[in-house]
Amino acid sequence: MKIMKARGIALAVCGALAALALSAPVRAQQQAPAEEKHPWSDTSLSPDARADLVLKELTLDEKIGLLHGQGMRGWGPPKANDWMGNGGAGWTMGVPRLGIPTIQMSDAAYGVRSSGTNGRYSTALPSNLASASSWDTDAACEYGALIGRELRAQGFNMTLGGGVNLTREPRNGRTFEYMGEDPILAGTLVGNRIKCEEAQHVIGDIKHYALNDQESGRNEVDVTISKRAMQESDLFAFHIGIRIGNPGAVMCSYNAINGDYACQNSYLLTDVLKKDWQFPGFVVSDWGGTHSTVKASAAGLDNEQPGEKFFGDALKDAVTSGKVSQAELDEHVRRVLRSEFADGIIDNPTKRSVVDVEGGFETARKIAESSTVLLKNSKGVLPLDRAKVKSIAVIGLNADTGMISGGGSAQVDPPGRGPTKWQEHIWFPTSPLKAIVAKAPNAQVKFDAGKDPAAAAALAKSSDVAIVFAYQWESEGMDLPTLSLPENQDALIAQVAAANPRTIVVLETGTAVTMAWVEKVGGVLEAWYAGSKGADAVANILFGDVNPTAKLPMTFPLKDEDVPHPTLVKPAPGSTGNRPSQLTGEAKPTFGVTYDEGLKVGYKWYDAEKKPVLFPFGFGMSYTTYSYSGLKVTPGADGTTVTFSVKNTGKRAGVEIAEVYAALPAGTDEPPKRLVGWSRVALGPGESKEVTVNVSREYLSIYDEASSGWKLAPGEYSFLVGGSSQELPLTQKTNIQ
Ligand code: BGC
Repeated sequence: MKIMKARGIALAVCGALAALALSAPVRAQQQAPAEEKHPWSDTSLSPDARADLVLKELTLDEKIGLLHGQGMRGWGPPKANDWMGNGGAGWTMGVPRLGIPTIQMSDAAYGVRSSGTNGRYSTALPSNLASASSWDTDAACEYGALIGRELRAQGFNMTLGGGVNLTREPRNGRTFEYMGEDPILAGTLVGNRIKCEEAQHVIGDIKHYALNDQESGRNEVDVTISKRAMQESDLFAFHIGIRIGNPGAVMCSYNAINGDYACQNSYLLTDVLKKDWQFPGFVVSDWGGTHSTVKASAAGLDNEQPGEKFFGDALKDAVTSGKVSQAELDEHVRRVLRSEFADGIIDNPTKRSVVDVEGGFETARKIAESSTVLLKNSKGVLPLDRAKVKSIAVIGLNADTGMISGGGSAQVDPPGRGPTKWQEHIWFPTSPLKAIVAKAPNAQVKFDAGKDPAAAAALAKSSDVAIVFAYQWESEGMDLPTLSLPENQDALIAQVAAANPRTIVVLETGTAVTMAWVEKVGGVLEAWYAGSKGADAVANILFGDVNPTAKLPMTFPLKDEDVPHPTLVKPAPGSTGNRPSQLTGEAKPTFGVTYDEGLKVGYKWYDAEKKPVLFPFGFGMSYTTYSYSGLKVTPGADGTTVTFSVKNTGKRAGVEIAEVYAALPAGTDEPPKRLVGWSRVALGPGESKEVTVNVSREYLSIYDEASSGWKLAPGEYSFLVGGSSQELPLTQKTNIQ
């Protein structure tokens, strides 16, 4: 914490210096297109061929320059060349004489970071977990494209977004930055996001590779897990994401896995990523996550960030003394250059422009609408009928002005104020109260911040309906002590609901929540961290202008004790905790977490352990209803075709996310079922459609440790189809060889 605070103060000082130094003409000069033609300017050549041509021209110093960062504001003392940075998390030196640009990196989990410090503007999209609730690859694409455009408009050509750590530990403070608990859903969505981000000519990134599944002691924790378990869960999400998105970079994580830090773990970086998956891009370290020169280089780390402690002079010395071979050095450099060509940052230099604010709002609202999950709607309390509702109580801290956002390096700075402090609680200016007033101009709408539950309950009692906006803030660098709501909000909701059963709870959370009060309230809407236009999206759903479609990408357990590790494993008191060891001098794991739940991540755990849950994975309601029929399962050489019909049995149009699960043959030692596909089906009232989902053999396979490969177990498979992981009306068995 202290170091982080110091980082904040240094940031402010250096920010002021940098603001003076970063004059517009200099910035423009940095990004000037390479006018001179070089052999590698020929765009008909492959990225590999072009990288090879550049490589031949580079001096040793130029090569080393491509393999490490040049610092980050607030990370160590200011440097003479700080003026060449772009106010992002880091940058890597280019080779101007050969037309190779600097790589300007920015965090961009749900929007571009550091707008406050840099005097720029960024759209805040709904959190990554929220966007995963849409199960929508097109929305993921729009999400990535928007961030790609805003990065380039601000002079960045590399994103540090793309978080896809699986939700093994729902109290992980970064759960909102990831895509939930299922590898196929998470990997597919992150891949589509990256693909469209890179189409804007930024180097894409996927992170944090791998198993950085809790924040407590993230720089000191050694994760113990079997190869099969990691391959079929956490690594599988990365593999799918990498195949679909082709990111230029993979960020290795802070933690150690089975004894070796991720950024010097040759199993992860070389055996799996570079050999098995044939990943052609470069591995960039998490900030301060590099721990050695020779070992990290041999294991497959290509680029150290944000500094040069191990991959600067130390790497140069290692090369000149023969401890790192010339070929190994060239391999790192080739990978960096290849990504620069493949993602088009050399052919398409960034051009500063004004961010499309209105366009950003539109995208943020649309994605929020398709990300908000209706969890409970008893007696049709929703949608609200604006012709009938005469009085509305809007209750909740800041529900008059804003909605909470997720903190840490993902934080997007809100418009109208300066830089945010590390782990500050930021309420984004999107006002639920105003949005509700706009929807119901003839109703009397009154606000109560909810600090005194009795007063809030009195207001609820005298109103037709009460809407409580409840929040749970989380951030990088911490984990939640519990999944229940903080700040006495459980008591607030219980009292309000006791006063008026027509109480609707709108949740602004970064992960699952337990709900002691759920039986007492009329409705529950999970809005997550809803971004720049969250309140408008929520109001559109509350008043029925938008029919909710989203479904949970993670299980909501009944109670904390039901998660695989009821007690979060933490480092010993007084340890360096979650601070990068480059700042603390420590470089050894000091404690361990054993993921002995293995393959049973998320719903697979609750299924296997037969534990009832509050809301299951894949669950989400609509203002209409759907029925399923006519399942046909046809195995084939290229995979299994699953066909069925979905009918809209209600009175309004909607989109149903139809889910397909498979149960593997007995004796495979697998959890009861896994998600193997889904389809978003748009249906008018009364309309029925036949849906086909193709399930690849890979999605039915298991990882065989003995042969270090994937195998399909011949035998009887069951396919289950329906609207959530626990509502699967259609089942068919089939034999697959
Ligand atoms: C985070 C990364 C982030 C980096 C740069 C690290 O603390 O773990 O996700 O990209 O900082 O800000």
